[in-house]
Amino acid sequence: MTNIIEASSMNKKVVLGKGHEIHILKDVNLEIEEGEFVSVMGPSGSGKTTLLYNISGMDRITAGSVKFNGREIDHLKEEELAKIRLKSMGFIFQDINLLKNLSLIDNVMFPALVSKDADKNAVHQKAKKLMKMTGIEKLANHNITQASGGQLQRVGICRALINDPDIIFGDEPTGALDSKSTEEIMSILAEINNNGTTVMLVTHDVKVAAKTERILFMVDGKIIAQKKMRKFDARQEDNKQREEELMKWLVDNGF
Ligand SMILES: Nc1ncnc2c1ncn2[C@@H]1O[C@H](COP(=O)(O)OP(=O)(O)O)[C@@H](O)[C@H]1O
Ligand SMILES: [Mg+2]
Repeated sequence: MTNIIEASSMNKKVVLGKGHEIHILKDVNLEIEEGEFVSVMGPSGSGKTTLLYNISGMDRITAGSVKFNGREIDHLKEEELAKIRLKSMGFIFQDINLLKNLSLIDNVMFPALVSKDADKNAVHQKAKKLMKMTGIEKLANHNITQASGGQLQRVGICRALINDPDIIFGDEPTGALDSKSTEEIMSILAEINNNGTTVMLVTHDVKVAAKTERILFMVDGKIIAQKKMRKFDARQEDNKQREEELMKWLVDNGF
């Protein structure tokens, strides 16, 4: 198997003022295989968001190395990094950050229209297809005030997919959603993953993590444990059992 992410001895320190620095990531090693569906759990402040930002090139480690698709990215110039993020990575967040002056479909199309030679018609067709896949095609011409939180997160997912990324990173993407919308978003992410896109999520929610195939657990800037599960297949397996299995592991490990 090929690793899409290979991070070794990642360290992240932030200088807060004279003589005061905090050490957020501490010698973190992490490999993610192409096509994997991984989640990161851990207490608030343990460094989950920082980990995600630093392996995706949204932020820079202060020591160590991060490889994406075999290429070391931690020393790249910002514009090179931006190109990689735009073309090969998709991001979904708890705060979806859609542009309020654009229709929902225009928000989805936005990252594909950044390059000048984009075929606007083809991008429009693709945005429509993604909105259909996520069940929001009827909302294409609505604006952000005319959709629910769950629907807006689907717009966020479509926007993350518009450039056919190799990987989707999600920082608590279901954190603001009710349980029904959470289920729906997780089904969509599972489908995207089954189509070959790697997915890495940060989450507090055992129900969410239980749907992923490997759960990393962070404490105080380190990945201290991981649990391997299987790929979730709703036809083969009941998610309740997976949740119980994960809960038991968390409790047995004192998390
Ligand atoms: N840019 C920053 N400046 C100062 N402190 C930061 C910065 N980024 C993160 N931290 C601190 O690092 C720790 C880990 O943060 P974070 O990665 O957001 O944790 P998590 O996502 O697990 O809640 C926290 O104590 C947070 O306050
Ligand atoms: Mg966080």
